[in-house]
Amino acid sequence: MKEVSFHQITHENLNRCLALKISQEQEHFICDNARSLAEAYVNSRLHPYLIFDGREPGPKPKEKPIGFIMLEFPGDGIGFVLRLMIDSEHQGKGYGYAALQEAIRRLRKYPDVTHIATSHHNQNIRMKVLCEKVGFQIWQLDPNKIPPTEQFLIMKGN
Ligand SMILES: CC(C)(COP(=O)(O)OP(=O)(O)OC[C@H]1O[C@@H](n2cnc3c(N)ncnc32)[C@H](O)[C@@H]1OP(=O)(O)O)[C@@H](O)C(=O)NCCC(=O)NCCS
Repeated sequence: MKEVSFHQITHENLNRCLALKISQEQEHFICDNARSLAEAYVNSRLHPYLIFDGREPGPKPKEKPIGFIMLEFPGDGIGFVLRLMIDSEHQGKGYGYAALQEAIRRLRKYPDVTHIATSHHNQNIRMKVLCEKVGFQIWQLDPNKIPPTEQFLIMKGN
């Protein structure tokens, strides 16, 4: 099974974050990483990370990241997993699964995280299957309050 670690985005690795790519057909499923970083800049609850192959202590100085993810630490007990992307070169190798597991592990370290949630585009079958595999279940929200193309999912936190 793959193992991954999450690392802060810094001045040194920013270009590697912006260079991560997905296929053109996947682009409508997710915002680009530059937008996610901009959102995190203005919202202190959002924590963007680069994903590297292997567990801590982390990457060697010139190692390339394999993906990107953002976690939202809650104000209301619900921790969110956002913007998971694995570079096209590394998809289908189990990194997406490992990254979701690591995201859940990190969010559960916070005692006030009672639930963990995420969402994906209805047509994003890969992400749907992946979310089911790690234990997310459909979260029925008021359809008037969510975009019609988006499926929300939830699981127990602590
Ligand atoms: C969704 C994404 C993160 C998955 O990452 P990944 O590293 O390719 O996923 P994994 O290799 O861990 O695969 C996990 C499971 O997905 C399923 N899967 C993979 N490809 C699939 C496909 N084409 N159709 C259906 N299910 C598929 C399989 O069940 C696989 O499990 P398996 O290893 O038992 O076969 C990746 O495809 C991605 O970055 N997509 C573009 C961005 C995106 O859509 N992000 C989600 C935003 S909400």
